[in-house]
Amino acid sequence: MLRETVATRYITPLREGGSLPGLVEAGDLGTYVMKFTGAGQGRKSLVAEVICGGLARRLGLRVPELAVLWLDPVIGLAEPDQEVQALLKASGGANLGMDFLPGSLGFDPLAHPVTSAEAGRVVWFDALVNNVDRSWRNPNMLVWHQDLWLIDHGAAVVWHHHWPGAAASAARPYDASDHALAPFAPDIARAAAELAPRVTQDLLAEVAAEVPDEWLAEEPGFAGSDEVRRAYGRILAERAGTVHERIRLGPPKPQRPPEPPDWLTGGRGGRRAGK
Ligand SMILES: Nc1ncnc2c1ncn2[C@@H]1O[C@H](COP(=O)(O)OP(=O)(O)OP(=O)(O)O)[C@@H](O)[C@H]1O
Ligand SMILES: [Mg+2]
Repeated sequence: MLRETVATRYITPLREGGSLPGLVEAGDLGTYVMKFTGAGQGRKSLVAEVICGGLARRLGLRVPELAVLWLDPVIGLAEPDQEVQALLKASGGANLGMDFLPGSLGFDPLAHPVTSAEAGRVVWFDALVNNVDRSWRNPNMLVWHQDLWLIDHGAAVVWHHHWPGAAASAARPYDASDHALAPFAPDIARAAAELAPRVTQDLLAEVAAEVPDEWLAEEPGFAGSDEVRRAYGRILAERAGTVHERIRLGPPKPQRPPEPPDWLTGGRGGRRAGK
């Protein structure tokens, strides 16, 4: 299960995020980025965060630790921003917390070259969960203590918005030509060989078990939360074996950022630095 704690103080909204995530303090004295069930994208984006974040962490990719944050909307009573007030009011109960990485910076391909092995692992993982939200326009990656951290999986596992078409949607190609790590020569074959065998039914069941029941309840077409959990597991298990065959890495787009200058990379040769 995910760790559970109580949100005790709303600090500030993170305005860069479309879903208006907030920075909060919690009962365990941690500081979290909180994502709300009452946000426009609703509870499904929180389910996607738990499934993808949990899976990525178990595959050795860096994702800040996730927790369930219980919210009593009274903590927002003194909040002057109407939009934030409304969001807190609509989100009483279980919400998602992601450990806040203090001092982290948004990923910048010119300042942080990535090896082709690591780029391969991230692109393969994003293809597995069909994450379309890691483009160079909006990389949803942070650099913290010189390492790359993945955040924001709320738009992934897109097929869960329409379960009857899930199998067909899951079989479509994954276009990675706009992926923020596409310019780093992602070694997809190596990532697939390394990671796919680790995506077992047991691992997927462990990941899906971390989703709070209330975010899965009353899903149309399912008899209960556990049946929905199994559906996530089934589709991801099916994809894991063959998704690498469907990843498209087109030619670099002209509007992509140019190669970094030597003074920025210390002569390491920028984003095509290799392993
Ligand atoms: N764990 C974290 N530690 C530090 N900063 C974070 C963390 N998570 C998110 N942020 C910051 O908050 C911003 C918004 O977060 P996130 O991308 O998860 O929100 P979102 O509403 O889903 O965004 P989007 O607009 O991409 O859909 C990030 O771009 C980043 O600057
Ligand atoms: Mg984001």
